[in-house]
Amino acid sequence: MESQAWLVLILLILTNLSDLATAQNYWCYNDGNYTANSTYSTNLNTLLSSLSSNMDDSGFYSASRGEAAPDQANAVALCRADIQLQSCRSCVQNATIELPNLCPEQKHAILWRDVCMLHYSNVSLFGNRSDLPAIMVWDRTNASSPDQFKEILRTVVDTLSLQAASGGSLMKVAAGNHTAPDFQTIYAMLQCTPDISEEDCSGCLTAAAQRIPQCCDSKRAATILTPSCNLRYDVSPFYNITRIQEAQAAVSVATPVPAPAPAPAPAPAPTLPVPAPRSL
Ligand SMILES: *[C@@H]1O[C@H](CO)[C@@H](O)[C@H](O)[C@H]1NC(C)=O
Ligand SMILES: *[C@@H]1O[C@H](CO)[C@@H](O)[C@H](O)[C@H]1NC(C)=O
Ligand SMILES: *[C@@H]1O[C@H](CO)[C@@H](O)[C@H](O)[C@H]1NC(C)=O
Ligand SMILES: *[C@@H]1O[C@H](CO)[C@@H](O)[C@H](O)[C@H]1NC(C)=O
Ligand SMILES: *[C@@H]1O[C@H](CO)[C@@H](O)[C@H](O)[C@H]1NC(C)=O
Ligand SMILES: *[C@@H]1O[C@H](CO)[C@@H](O)[C@H](O)[C@H]1NC(C)=O
Ligand SMILES: *[C@@H]1O[C@H](CO)[C@@H](O)[C@H](O)[C@H]1NC(C)=O
Ligand SMILES: *[C@@H]1O[C@H](CO)[C@@H](O)[C@H](O)[C@H]1NC(C)=O
Repeated sequence: MESQAWLVLILLILTNLSDLATAQNYWCYNDGNYTANSTYSTNLNTLLSSLSSNMDDSGFYSASRGEAAPDQANAVALCRADIQLQSCRSCVQNATIELPNLCPEQKHAILWRDVCMLHYSNVSLFGNRSDLPAIMVWDRTNASSPDQFKEILRTVVDTLSLQAASGGSLMKVAAGNHTAPDFQTIYAMLQCTPDISEEDCSGCLTAAAQRIPQCCDSKRAATILTPSCNLRYDVSPFYNITRIQEAQAAVSVATPVPAPAPAPAPAPAPTLPVPAPRSL
């Protein structure tokens, strides 16, 4: 039943996110099956084999293989925005091997590793917001002064959601920290797949944030992972802000904002010299 897929919440109590490598961190949807050597299988294998090398500083890649329904394979991969490209590629590479083994029959599957997510389907995923399934991971320890902590956390998450959502079509991420009571600091990082709209990104992050009271009320650290967005906060620093800024700069250099189209130049008078370039 498809509805089952949309209801699933995977609850994990982990003190270390790297445990996602071994925890039940994947979902095989029941949207249709395929068999070995089928057209879908060939399309999927070809698609997955090229994913990791196509990951760039944006930490996001989406591609399709095969012409038509029902056998077109579509995949999306997202890395944590603050990891090095080499770690991103290695994570995606492993995921592309792991996930078809975990879901050997299902056309539609998703896997979260510690630093990346891989999602594929015969239905197009690009630009298609999806809030479920959700994985929730939390620390058992409560924050100190939980009421004030939660209030500050809400403000931090609201602010960063809007910031991440406004990131543009190549990267949607925001990270920041805020002082909390009893000498605590809240560090948070929020990210969406950049293919979804600004509105869908903030909607996905808001929905993820609304799960915090269900799973992680008063906890000093938690992570919510969904197909289209993820949210993590902790009282200890966990993200590499330098890397996020470096990646954002690399991505904006690779695709500069297009200059406004120049007005058609009037035919130059043949007697005039070519004007010297103007300094800005
Ligand atoms: C797909 O395969 C799984 C695992 O064998 C099975 O449980 C499920 O019913 C199948 N789904 C369909 C739609 O055939
Ligand atoms: C798939 O193709 C390979 C190579 O042609 C063959 O060895 C294998 O038996 C086939 N598997 C199935 C399930 O048809
Ligand atoms: C996806 O696969 C399912 C099951 O084979 C099929 O019913 C559906 O039409 C396919 N959808 C697309 C868009 O390929
Ligand atoms: C990928 O798998 C290899 C071999 O199992 C392992 O050594 C490596 O650490 C994995 N990489 C990531 C990012 O998990
Ligand atoms: C988006 O996902 C939903 C649910 O899987 C699917 O029904 C729909 O066709 C998808 N939209 C596009 C544009 O592929
Ligand atoms: C932690 O917080 C939860 C939710 O506010 C509360 O029910 C629980 O009693 C707290 N645990 C401790 C050890 O204070
Ligand atoms: C923490 O916040 C301060 C003030 O906004 C900022 O200058 C600093 O870079 C932040 N540190 C991290 C690790 O985000
Ligand atoms: C953070 O990112 C910078 C820039 O890529 C890198 O030089 C540095 O080693 C990273 N720090 C950690 C702790 O990974």
